[in-house]
Amino acid sequence: MWNTVALRSLGRLHPKATPPQLPRLQTLNHVFERKYKDLCHGKLPAHVLQNQGLKRTRDMLCCRLVSNKAKYRRGAKTYPVLDGRILSVYRHVFEENLRNSEAVIKRYSELLETVSKGGGENAILRHTQRNKKLFVRERLKLLLDDESFLELSPLAGLEMPYGDVPAAGCLTGIGKICGVWCVFMANDATVKGGTIYPIGVKKQLRAQEIAMQNRLLSVYLVDSGGAFLPLQSELFPDKSHGGRLFYNEAIMSAMRIPQVAVVCGSCVAGGAYVPTMAEEAVIIDKIGTLFLAGPPLVKAATGEYVSPEDLGGAKLHSEVSGCSDHFASSEKEAYECIRNVISTLNYDPLPEEVTEHDSPLYSCDELLGLAPRDYRCSLPVKLILSRLMDGSRFQEFKANYGTTLVTGFGHVQGHLVGIVANNGELTHDASLKGSHFVQLCSQRSIPILFFQNTAPHTAEPTSISQAEAQSNRLKAQASMMAAVACAAVPKITIVVGGCYGSESYVMCGRSFSPNFLFLWPNARVALVDSRHFSTVPQTGDSDCTDESELKHLKEKLEEESSAFYSSARLWDDGVILPQNTRKVIAQCLEIVEQQKYRVVSPCQYPVIRM
Ligand code: COA
Repeated sequence: MWNTVALRSLGRLHPKATPPQLPRLQTLNHVFERKYKDLCHGKLPAHVLQNQGLKRTRDMLCCRLVSNKAKYRRGAKTYPVLDGRILSVYRHVFEENLRNSEAVIKRYSELLETVSKGGGENAILRHTQRNKKLFVRERLKLLLDDESFLELSPLAGLEMPYGDVPAAGCLTGIGKICGVWCVFMANDATVKGGTIYPIGVKKQLRAQEIAMQNRLLSVYLVDSGGAFLPLQSELFPDKSHGGRLFYNEAIMSAMRIPQVAVVCGSCVAGGAYVPTMAEEAVIIDKIGTLFLAGPPLVKAATGEYVSPEDLGGAKLHSEVSGCSDHFASSEKEAYECIRNVISTLNYDPLPEEVTEHDSPLYSCDELLGLAPRDYRCSLPVKLILSRLMDGSRFQEFKANYGTTLVTGFGHVQGHLVGIVANNGELTHDASLKGSHFVQLCSQRSIPILFFQNTAPHTAEPTSISQAEAQSNRLKAQASMMAAVACAAVPKITIVVGGCYGSESYVMCGRSFSPNFLFLWPNARVALVDSRHFSTVPQTGDSDCTDESELKHLKEKLEEESSAFYSSARLWDDGVILPQNTRKVIAQCLEIVEQQKYRVVSPCQYPVIRM
């Protein structure tokens, strides 16, 4: 299994002075930061911290393998330094990319602003004033050690066919509690009473998948009216619908992945099973209720009025039914209680030693000009790597073979990683090289980072020899796909440009189950590139295909290719800013490492509530 006992960085090389920022970058950063500060009344919200700060993670990244220091130091100091200078010949492409990045980041900040308001100001007022509950982001502040959590898919649920569902009605992410990384799933009751939409089910199932894949203990903050009834057929009957959440709870418990819950609002119908299936649950007096059918249904069925408290309140479930294990008289007390419960789960907190590691030699803000606007605007991928690797150092593998894929080893904030990065079309030689390299990482238990910028499509063969070359390439890509699928190490995919067609599978796309997959805001995700889609009818098109139809198709493809369209549908774990990529990767690497610190041994049966 995976083990990062391998080489760990303690390199002492101090970076050279960072090259001066370009004026446009400075302007953009300024605008972006100010916008967020305004949004949060001077205090950056957690989702921004995820992308911008991660201060604590940066400062506290632990060095666990003291005995490997010498080994690490040798590696880190002697890897060659990448030349990350942006040559004048690339300047115009850089500028074009930069303009595009400014536009997409502006859109990104607008969408995040929408999402940060949950169901809107009126709904927040009703939730906090009338229902006397804390807004979900305030709850997270009480639950987590600090605000530097990794929020997952905050844009999920926007512009769905059934309307906007901000954050899919449920915040998910990974944060530290008592020094241990935990997955959290927290309903936002300001979005239609916290009811579960199809996209909300998908988001929670993904959070559970992350918990299972990385063996992270999980916390549910339940405040939900159950299924969003008008869409019941899309969230009740099928295998990956609502019931799967409860099934997973049992399986996770049997896998020795502890789960705890706080009933901090209504838990109606399906919502009632989440805390009841958890290993330990806390319920809050006068706020938490738990029943299969609420007072209106009782009235309709029996004519009797019964208050929510009497039907399924905190007292009843703590004293009579046993559906809850702890009674809390306030929200504050409930989060203190659940933190105490977590401290009994017998996890060793991560050591908080400060690790010395080198920063890249080049400013990560320049990644905005390296984020390709279009596949044709891609610059050499080593320019990106030189802004992400510790000390810009990179031990390249097969540097002169299959050069349209760059492979090699480097460190990200002290973590040793294998890099697989597109640098053009995934040719036959590039695929063979990728296949070889991925197997090396798997043999050596080194996590793999995929930087994906796949080519839109392959030209149709015009000769027998070209057709033969394409078949050979297909065979080599199939071999790399198999190597990627079977590599038993953590994998993290960052889509820095295009995620097109079958090459995206080879580069560990969503269907190849990377532990985490993030997109840059400029990323395009589609089977084919809309920009290469002709609106002029071609020979062979059916007679009824006219120009306006093709134009409409192109527009649809264009809209469906954006990073935001992808993230809204949970085809990824979120959009991240290019300049924060290094921090997000380091955080993910620390999260996947945590399982080494589990004290408990595996068992095969779940905890069953008595
Ligand atoms: N399906 C669809 N919409 C629902 C819903 C459900 N199960 N439960 C609530 N809503 C909607 C309401 O219609 C309302 O919509 P609006 O803002 O457009 O008017 C919104 O969610 C908020 O509900 P409201 O009752 O005003 O808020 P509240 O905070 O006072 O109460 C609940 C929230 C969840 C406790 C309450 O709405 C409730 O009990 N709902 C029924 C739950 C239920 O029976 N679920 C069965 C699922 S199988």
